[in-house]
Amino acid sequence: MSTCHSAWLQLALRTRFAEVLFLMAFDLKEIVASRLGENYELHERHINRTLVAAQRVIGFDKIYARAEGAYLYDMDNQPYLDFLSGYSVFNFGRNHPIVKQVIRDVLDLDLPNMVQLDCSLLSGLLAEALVKRTPPHLDAVFFCNSGTEGMEGALKFARAATGRQRAVSLTSAFHGLSFGSLSLMGCESFTEGFGPLMEGFDARIQLDDIDELERQLRSRDVAAFVIETVQGKGCQTPKTDFFVRAQELCRKYGTLLISDEVQTGLGRTGKMFGFQHWNLEPDIITIAKSLSGGYVPCGAIITRRDIYQKTFSRMDRCVVHSSTFGRNNLAMACGLAALEIIDQENLVGKAAKMGALLMGKIDELRAKHSFLKETRGKGLMIGIEFQEPQELKLKMTWKLLHKIDKALFAQMVVSQMLGKHHILTQVAGHNLDVIRILPPLIIGEKEVEMFVNALDDVLNECRKFPGPMWELGNNFVKAALGAKRTVEARPTVSA
Ligand SMILES: Cc1ncc(COP(=O)(O)O)c(C=O)c1O
Repeated sequence: MSTCHSAWLQLALRTRFAEVLFLMAFDLKEIVASRLGENYELHERHINRTLVAAQRVIGFDKIYARAEGAYLYDMDNQPYLDFLSGYSVFNFGRNHPIVKQVIRDVLDLDLPNMVQLDCSLLSGLLAEALVKRTPPHLDAVFFCNSGTEGMEGALKFARAATGRQRAVSLTSAFHGLSFGSLSLMGCESFTEGFGPLMEGFDARIQLDDIDELERQLRSRDVAAFVIETVQGKGCQTPKTDFFVRAQELCRKYGTLLISDEVQTGLGRTGKMFGFQHWNLEPDIITIAKSLSGGYVPCGAIITRRDIYQKTFSRMDRCVVHSSTFGRNNLAMACGLAALEIIDQENLVGKAAKMGALLMGKIDELRAKHSFLKETRGKGLMIGIEFQEPQELKLKMTWKLLHKIDKALFAQMVVSQMLGKHHILTQVAGHNLDVIRILPPLIIGEKEVEMFVNALDDVLNECRKFPGPMWELGNNFVKAALGAKRTVEARPTVSA
């Protein structure tokens, strides 16, 4: 063997040896196995201790060790039914084998990633796959990393395309927490302390208030009207033909219609996109969440080519809007896998079918429980609203809870659903008597039964006064009264 060859061999051996040494020193599986259980202490010390405090109060301080499909498993391997899907990140369930395989494939292929000044194959393929699933006029795609980033880009595209500055949105909307998205939202619980917000983004109208929308658009200075077709907060949809008329008004006054499909998109509502329930033709849509395959952050703006080109209008503007990680291979591959699974497993149809079944069964409970006011939403994006009970002995306690915080009753239900029945759900927003359920679209009749039986049981318990549920309520009252207290800001000395 030549000297040269042996030097290479030695280097290769040394490198491999270094790798082995590294793996011996850094064994992630071993670390996870030995330190699982320290989760909340670590977060309290280094991350968001206020969130830890809140999770402890409502009994959400569980330690999940594993996840598969529609279930999370704790350290004792007890299953928890996940009716939140990471806020719609897991439309196809958790740790889907096809997504896992695709990630392994990308790693095995040693693809050139994020060269930036090239055109990668996987981003082209994902764009092609997306426009196959959108109406023909939505044919140009921009990739980003999250829902809020999608909205920021959509707002920039709308301004560039119209030469106008203002944006009008809906009250109770949620579009993300970076400045553009935040400025669209009227909800003080998110905006308090962060002002001033963006100029020109302060016109918010009530769902169904078409006259106010026209009053806003008539000045012809509004670049975009932004909607969520099913609002995440409270799961509201219009009671009139508001969306159709809003689209007509947008056309009449030259305003672009942006549909935020970050939550409603990719099958969640029983259609591929929420706007399809009203046969709308939005000018721009944003998607994210499940496009990540549940693994790698991924978002996209899909719009008309003419709108797109108004942003990328000249050679020197070819990267005027961009993001370093926006088209990275792992995210693109996960997006391709996500779309494939949604088709192969007919998840759009399943969401429609299981959503109708679930809403029907929850509605049936209304005959038994006067607490239940309404079930609403579309597909598997469902809100359950509560109301003051008819039973006299419960009215007082209900009123007391609501005087302190309108969401406390809903929180009581959600906490008991998790604590007693191991079903993860969420209150649908600040000051709301609504719980929101977002199950993975893979659920079957078994999971529907589990949820409905658990809700029936929890509402039965609510009718027992005094009883453990109202004791829980009492604890929440105490916590709510102390909620304005600042959670310790001084760094904790590490143990
Ligand atoms: C409708 C909607 N838009 C935007 C966002 C923001 O997405 P992200 O958290 O990925 O920024 C969300 C997040 O929940 C959402 O539900």
